[in-house]
Order: sequence, then C-alpha cells, then structure tokens
Amino acid sequence: MKTRITELFGIKHPIIQGGMHFVGFAELAAAVSNAGGLGLITGLTQRTPEDLSREIARCREMTDKPFGVNLTFLPSVNPPDYPGYVKSIIDGGVKIVETAGNNPVKWLPALKEAGIKVIHKCTSVRHSLKAESIGCDAVSVDGFECGGHPGEDDVGNWVLLPRAAEELKIPFVASGGVGVASQLVAALAMGADGINMGTRFIATKEAPVHENVKQAIVAASELDTRLVMRPLRNTERVLVNAGVERLLEKEKALGAAIKFEDIIPEVAGVYPKIMLEGVMDAGAWSCGMVAGLIHDIPTCQELIDRIMSEAQTIIRKRLEGMLAA
Ligand SMILES: Cc1cc2nc3c(=O)[nH]c(=O)nc-3n(C[C@H](O)[C@H](O)[C@H](O)COP(=O)(O)O)c2cc1C
Repeated sequence: MKTRITELFGIKHPIIQGGMHFVGFAELAAAVSNAGGLGLITGLTQRTPEDLSREIARCREMTDKPFGVNLTFLPSVNPPDYPGYVKSIIDGGVKIVETAGNNPVKWLPALKEAGIKVIHKCTSVRHSLKAESIGCDAVSVDGFECGGHPGEDDVGNWVLLPRAAEELKIPFVASGGVGVASQLVAALAMGADGINMGTRFIATKEAPVHENVKQAIVAASELDTRLVMRPLRNTERVLVNAGVERLLEKEKALGAAIKFEDIIPEVAGVYPKIMLEGVMDAGAWSCGMVAGLIHDIPTCQELIDRIMSEAQTIIRKRLEGMLAA
C-alpha cells in the first residue's frame, strides 16, 4: 500500500508503533520496522541522553529499516535534558521523530536542519493545525479512545478524523483505538494516510515487557479502561486495577482540592514495576479501549501482515463488491 505516510517515511506499510514509556525499547522498534512498519524508541524511557545513544545504536544493529524516536514534552518542574536527547537523536543518524505533549516548536529548527521528519501527536484539530503551521511534516491524530493521554476534549475518532481531514494539508495517521484491519480501511476512508497503534503493539511477542502485561491486555474488554487525573487536567486512559481504584477513590474524596502529591503512590515510578516486573496492581498504566479487540499475542510481522492482507480483502471484496456495476 502506498500512501503519503509510506512515502514520507520510506516504509512499506502505513503502520506506526507509537512511543510508549517502558515499552518502546530497541527490541520492539526494530521488530516493527523489520515487519515493514515504523518502530519508535521512546526517548525519555532512557535515563540519560547517553543511554538513548546506546539504545539507538542497539536498534540499528537489529534493523536496517527506518525507525524513529519519540520525544515527549511534559510540563515539569525539573525538565529532562531535552537538548541532550535531541543531540543523541541527531548524532545517532535517526531521521524520524515523533513529538508529543507540548508544542515542539523550539526543537524544530535543530531537527529540520538535520534532515529529520517530524510527526507530532495531537488530540485535537486545533493542535494539529498548529503543528502544521509550525512546520511539522505530519501529525498523529489521537482520538478519545486512545491509551495514554487523550487530552480534555473527548472527541472520538469517528468525528475527529474526518474533522482533521477537512482542515489539514499535511498527512495524518489515525491513532487511538486501532488494532484491526477494518479500522485501517476506515481510517483511510476518513482521510488518514495510515495508523498509529500503541496498546496493540504491547501484546506482541517482541514487546520487551512482562508476560503479565500482555495477558492483562488479552483478558481486558473495551469496558476495562478508566480515565484518571482528570481533575488535574492531565487525563490519562489506563487499565483498571486495584491501584487505579484507589486513585479514583482519592479523586472522589478530595474533589477539586486534589494535588499531584496526593496521588504519587499510584502514578510515580509505576512503569518499571508494571512493565518489567509484572506487578499488575502497582498503579496506573496507559492502556486503550482497543484492549477489547486484542485476543492474541502474535509477532509484529504476523500482526502487520494480518492487518495488511485483511485490509486488502476488505477493500477488494467487501467494498468493491458493494458498488453496483
Ligand atoms: C503503556 C503506554 C505508554 C505510553 N507512553 C507514551 C509516551 O511515553 N509518550 C507518548 O507520546 N505516547 C505514549 N503513549 C501513547 C501511544 O504512543 C499511542 O499514542 C496510543 O497508545 C494510541 O492509542 P492506542 O493505545 O489505543 O493504540 C503510551 C501508550 C501506552 C499504551
């Protein structure tokens, strides 16, 4: 399949693996890229820029296909060493960066000068237009269904994607809630040039996370995610568990008075415990509603091949067949 996204990134299939904290290590990024998609290393999961440089080098040993790095810009009192991470990306010869969180405008000149293509992840049409206006090459439009941070507008992809298509000139991919071929075809029909998947890629053989995480996703239904941190305007969609129930109780009890400090036990430092040790009730970890559509743990190659071949069947047989001769 040839789309503006496969052309932009030099990949075979219009499928991107979104950056994921403590999931997006070199093993997963390389597996996705080797399967013809675009794999992304999660920059901030690497503790220092030097660690990121090593991770990029490791990924390059595992694939000769294009791969990228996710850089998430979070509001924080002690910001990470962003200039250092950007330098590691540039020096490491990476040519694709997924930015997310705050406006990446400050970092674009350096990235562009190094010939890097930038795809910014946004949860609204207005942020997508902003990304276009500051010179991003593409956007990932993340609907309300998504695992992670859906923003505060709560617009699902059924409306968000065609709205993005009405306004954007740069290519965009559909992100959030995507896991199966029919959604790729629907996304293309709604004007997207590909898909970005997070949760679906966690439940793959190569995802370097604890087996408990993969099994929890397979066991979960579309009803098993919750929105946390809404009162802090930092909404995150997570898989429900005992830690999340505790967090929600605190939100109910403290109301508008809640502060980040109140929920530190349920959110801070949780990812290594969950992803590496498999302590599933440790606290809140991002997971999308698409869990309801995930029933197996294939290799990345099997997953991507399945999506592409079923998409072809849907387009050629089901859709074409509906047109009167
Ligand atoms: C466990 C997990 C961790 C994530 N961490 C990040 C992150 O660090 N930075 C980021 O930009 N997006 C992050 N995301 C969001 C994904 O990149 C992607 O946009 C999202 O998962 C898409 O929704 P889906 O899970 O329904 O496919 C994370 C998602 C998950 C499930």
